[in-house]
Amino acid sequence: MTDYNNPLSSKSFSLPESLDDKNQIDDFVSRNSSRKIVVVQGLGFVGAVMSLVCANTRNGDYAVIGVDLATKESFWKIKSINEGSFPLVAEDPKIEQFFKNTIEKGNFYATYDSYAYSLADVVVVDVNLDVQKFSSENNALEDFDVDLGGFKKAIAVIGENCKKDVTVLVETTVPPGTCINVVQPILIDELRRRNLSDDMIKIGHSYERVMPGPDYIDSIRCYPRVYSGVNTASADAVEEFLKTIIDTSSCELTRLEHTNATEMAKVLENAYRATNIAFVVEWSRFAEEAEVDLYEIINAIRVRKTHSNLMFPNIGVGGYCLTKDPLLASWARKTFFGADSDLEMSIKSVSTNDQMPVYAYERLKEVFGSLHGTHVAFLGVSYRGDVGDTRFTPVESLVNLVKSDGAKVKLHDPYVSYWQELSCEVESDINKVLVPEPSLVIISTAHSVYKKEAFIDKIASVSASKVYDAVGLLTNEQIQKLQSKHRVSVLGRGDIS
Ligand SMILES: NC(=O)c1ccc[n+]([C@@H]2O[C@H](COP(=O)([O-])OP(=O)(O)OC[C@H]3O[C@@H](n4cnc5c(N)ncnc54)[C@H](O)[C@@H]3O)[C@@H](O)[C@H]2O)c1
Repeated sequence: MTDYNNPLSSKSFSLPESLDDKNQIDDFVSRNSSRKIVVVQGLGFVGAVMSLVCANTRNGDYAVIGVDLATKESFWKIKSINEGSFPLVAEDPKIEQFFKNTIEKGNFYATYDSYAYSLADVVVVDVNLDVQKFSSENNALEDFDVDLGGFKKAIAVIGENCKKDVTVLVETTVPPGTCINVVQPILIDELRRRNLSDDMIKIGHSYERVMPGPDYIDSIRCYPRVYSGVNTASADAVEEFLKTIIDTSSCELTRLEHTNATEMAKVLENAYRATNIAFVVEWSRFAEEAEVDLYEIINAIRVRKTHSNLMFPNIGVGGYCLTKDPLLASWARKTFFGADSDLEMSIKSVSTNDQMPVYAYERLKEVFGSLHGTHVAFLGVSYRGDVGDTRFTPVESLVNLVKSDGAKVKLHDPYVSYWQELSCEVESDINKVLVPEPSLVIISTAHSVYKKEAFIDKIASVSASKVYDAVGLLTNEQIQKLQSKHRVSVLGRGDIS
């Protein structure tokens, strides 16, 4: 699980004794009697912020109930919201501001009680849907599986409780075909079981393009959206809702004719990006061998509009989406549409990207030799700059490889205080990471703060050591400054000593 940089996430607390939170929910709803009720299912990186956006709409005034599970991994998010502390921290100041607004308006409540669904006018589904990967020792993908179990349970609990005319908007990234083959049948079965008519429910899909980071809120609110419904009434209901959430004066809403199409659009977007990243991996090795600077080459090529998103070398791909979405697509092709073939290029891209930290390690050893007995400082554990998210971070593999070489490792990250996957503390004070002085500093996440001159000066001030920039963060001037004392190597660049 991820560290949300919230003290509650790593502290122990007792889980609720009963799942009955009906009185509190009823109180909340009666205090918000003039407002429509939006229930957001799943209070993770997407759902928690989507809840804030729904509770701070421009054209509609919703009361928002966020529902998550009363489990050790997730209950703290519910507790944290109701105690007035938002469960995740990112560079976007609007998060704090929006959360404060909800406290003042009293229109955001979090719960684990599925009774909430019975009051909803709209349910937004933001739960996770995971892919299980089976990989070799060097991270090459050997096989994978998609387990829809948790997702099906999440949909069933909505059907067991919802009003017959609710709008259910699926935002979760799903294998194409899921709304038609899984969501609709489950909801209809549940309504029939409750002797309710099944022709008034609206079911739609509109995927999130949210980007945790400095524009977190606006990446939901002011970003073009694609949507669809299982029928016209559903698509109309989703459009009406999205128009109250999304700033349509600054971005477009695009209706696609089928939920299969919007579901495919999401995984195609991410498979394209994953493949684009994977493409440059072998070119990084080539550039190192040819002793040229691939960043400089790519910058020169990027001036052509047709080539402007050629990717730069990097330590690897992390986060929850690019590491799995191409696989969801391939799985759906065979499972829901009866194809014999996989989406081979997409699968290969995930496998190549998963191996990137291993390449980063091999290059490190090639340049600097054995790390046995040395002190190594990692700058950044998050998978992405300016965010505290360690899910599938490529830094994890690199840290493990460096440790297995016998090095003593210290970790720094301004956004992560506890790294749950590795069960260890992460330092936010750079001075503490530089004592005792490391013999190798690895820049492993491109946080903006690391680009600041004061930070570079800090690294430059330690006694002669080695600096390995695995994310292409350093400018030429900064490299020169560091080189006055240190040996510097940059992934994807030939020898620059
Ligand atoms: N993180 C991103 O940047 C991002 C961007 C775009 C799309 N997405 C997609 O959005 C979806 C959610 O991603 P996330 O990053 O928020 O995941 P997450 O793991 O951070 O959050 C999911 C939450 O859903 C909760 N949950 C699971 N089952 C539930 C249930 N039955 N009832 C209530 N809550 C339940 C989990 O406890 C968890 O808190 C995924 O499909 C993901 O691929 C994520």
